[in-house]
Amino acid sequence: MIYLNGKFLPIEQAYIPVLDRGFIFGDGVYEVIPVYSCLPFRLDEHLARLQHSLDGIRLANPYTVSHWRSLIESLVAQNEGGDQYLYLHITRGTARRDHAFPAGVEPTVFMMSTPLAIPGQELLTTGVAAITAQDNRWGRCDIKAISLLPNVLLRQLAVDACTMETILLRDGLLTEGAASNIFIVRNDVLLAPPKDHRMLPGITYDLILELAAANAITHEIRDISEYELRTAKEIMLTSSTKEILPIVRLDGQPVGSALPGAVFRQLNELYQNYKATVMRGK
Ligand code: PDD
Repeated sequence: MIYLNGKFLPIEQAYIPVLDRGFIFGDGVYEVIPVYSCLPFRLDEHLARLQHSLDGIRLANPYTVSHWRSLIESLVAQNEGGDQYLYLHITRGTARRDHAFPAGVEPTVFMMSTPLAIPGQELLTTGVAAITAQDNRWGRCDIKAISLLPNVLLRQLAVDACTMETILLRDGLLTEGAASNIFIVRNDVLLAPPKDHRMLPGITYDLILELAAANAITHEIRDISEYELRTAKEIMLTSSTKEILPIVRLDGQPVGSALPGAVFRQLNELYQNYKATVMRGK
């Protein structure tokens, strides 16, 4: 079952008009929210970021937070009980094709649930490979915009190279992954690039930094140079659908010992414990 503009219906019966501005211009924003055993994870944070994205494209939020919460609860209840992720998608609605905003048009609101397959133990034990590429996206990467063509092309480079992710560099600095945030470890310090217009403010990124702060893991938020990335002892990626994954090869070269490192193992354990605690308390 999916949600579209006020109705729950089977996905096969869901259609949008061809003049929807999401289809024509990619004029919209989205969210991806993991749901563990029917419990949406960090929901308030995801809804706050949705508001930030809507503000960024000057689109009024069609619903209050409590309405979003109840729609999300219904959608989760109507889908299978296992782990899933919710995709929320809001566009500026349907109108005659003209770049400027249309007047008096209702936004299109779409939500769907998909089974969530988090990375298995094997990937956490062996780690994954990544490549690098120049970050050729726009100047508002903090908006979770549905116009994802650069991310699609950059992510495909990783797939073509039989790796998990493309790590992006802009002006000689690490920004993020094509669909993830990136952390590195150097001299036993966890380093994260600052949240600004160059990257998506990841919900998992924030949680990792919260866990690091609460557990006395030395960390610093600052610009990370390409050299620092390439000579890091550890590299890891985070996202709502991948959680936290160690990157052990970069552009074919080993990262540190080419095995998941101690900081990754500690953060992953803290993340899994946090998740278990939240789910127990529901
Ligand atoms: N993407 N950066 C980009 C460009 C992303 O697309 C994502 C997540 C992240 C990580 O953010 P979070 O921790 O809030 O998931 C960072 C989602 C999963 C997607 O587009 O499917």
